[in-house]
Amino acid sequence: MVGRKPPSRKGSMADVPKDLVDQINRLEELFTVPAEKLNQITDHFVNELAKGLSKEGGTIPMNATWCMGFPDGNETGTFLALDMGGTNLRVCEITLTEEKGEFDIIQSKYRMPEELKTGTAEELWSYIADCLQQFIEYHHEDEELDQLPLGFTFSYPATQNYIDHGILQRWTKGFDIDGVEGRDVVPDFEAALAERGVPIKLTALINDTTGTMIASAYTDPEMKIGCIFGTGCNAAYMENCGSIPKLAHMNLDPDLPMAINCEYGAFDSEHVVLPRTPYDIIIDKESPRPNQQAFEKMIAGLYLGEIFRLVLLDLHQNPDCKIFEGQDVGKLQKAYSLDAGFLSAIEEDPFENLSETHDLFQNKLSIVCTKPELELIRRLAELIGTRAARLSSCGVAAICKKKGWKTCHVGADGSVFNKYPHFKIRGAQALKEILDWPANKGKGRGDPVEILPAEDGSGVGAALIAALTLKRVQQGQNAGIRDPDALLKACKAFDLKKPT
Ligand code: BGC
Repeated sequence: MVGRKPPSRKGSMADVPKDLVDQINRLEELFTVPAEKLNQITDHFVNELAKGLSKEGGTIPMNATWCMGFPDGNETGTFLALDMGGTNLRVCEITLTEEKGEFDIIQSKYRMPEELKTGTAEELWSYIADCLQQFIEYHHEDEELDQLPLGFTFSYPATQNYIDHGILQRWTKGFDIDGVEGRDVVPDFEAALAERGVPIKLTALINDTTGTMIASAYTDPEMKIGCIFGTGCNAAYMENCGSIPKLAHMNLDPDLPMAINCEYGAFDSEHVVLPRTPYDIIIDKESPRPNQQAFEKMIAGLYLGEIFRLVLLDLHQNPDCKIFEGQDVGKLQKAYSLDAGFLSAIEEDPFENLSETHDLFQNKLSIVCTKPELELIRRLAELIGTRAARLSSCGVAAICKKKGWKTCHVGADGSVFNKYPHFKIRGAQALKEILDWPANKGKGRGDPVEILPAEDGSGVGAALIAALTLKRVQQGQNAGIRDPDALLKACKAFDLKKPT
């Protein structure tokens, strides 16, 4: 697939009536982001990244994570990792083995009940602690355990004064649990564990992007950025402390590395540069957190199906065009009833007559589409998917431009990156347009800046960051560590090689 343009239905509109062609043209205008606009967005993005690192701060949080270095492949020991994702909760036990860069993993997934996302803080922490307890009881039955070090992947914006601490700035990705924003999540989490007597020591609270960067760097030294293109979107990269003015008061060695969790889903929440459509504006207004995460709401998996649904509903209600005439659109009226997987399936329909799309609409929405309607639907999915991929590249390009990196590898994970058709090639094409590569470059594989599938960030990455943190404590490098003594105690219980 890489190296050639993704297929497009643009040319197959011969039998589409004029009112629908007019609408398709209007949608193309609305959703197409030309190279010039990508460049304008990226330039603004570079400034906003810098602002986020400044003392005054900016819209993009640019959170210091206190993950202060890459692994060298010699990390060893056994660690727990907990990933609080949007759909699942995953618990892993990871053993970093003596063989350089290798590991063993056992893991269990638990469903994250939908009600939890809008429930109470107590319900959330109790559920998570119960899952951890179950995991430990199952895998360590009848063992006398001291404390197990845990890397907790908590993928929401958090202010971290220490690596084993994190004040939730705001919920994203549709979460809306009272009493957590503005609080350090660690004590409540630890209290729920203590109540159940679960022998775990939270060693590092991490973001999925930081985990992705570190896990990918474990096996590829050219990795400089970790990205998630999934339910939400974000990236992390390694900064040097001397380039973080908001940490200047701490007098850290300016050459020390510091992973920055950009939280760039918040980019342009003041609406200066992103080409928002009326549909993006509705999504924002009706979300639990309006005026936040502007960039994310245009590109992340949680929103792609909803953008698509809003457009179709608008067209159905538009007297100038006739779609789904005489059909019951009751199911289409339900907010968030279509996910990014629905759009993927439309883009993947291999048949010229779009029969799979026809069946999807009939089965999922009880709508029987005409052929011209199917053409419009397919083109709309392409437009939304292409816009997401192209805009996504602006964030990556902005980090490269800010750091002056002409070449690097970017580790990427998330459902949209892994599963959405043509996302990778569309993104690579946009990067080429922004970073202005010579004509023979920009074909995906082998590009100067290459976005590659990442290693498991919230599992292996979390374990590695926990290992790196303990190594730092053992070496007496306690910057950004709240409770070094407790961590040292946790190390002792652990098969952790003394630093050489
Ligand atoms: C969160 C980030 C996270 C991203 C990808 C965003 O909504 O704020 O912390 O990295 O989603 O999961």
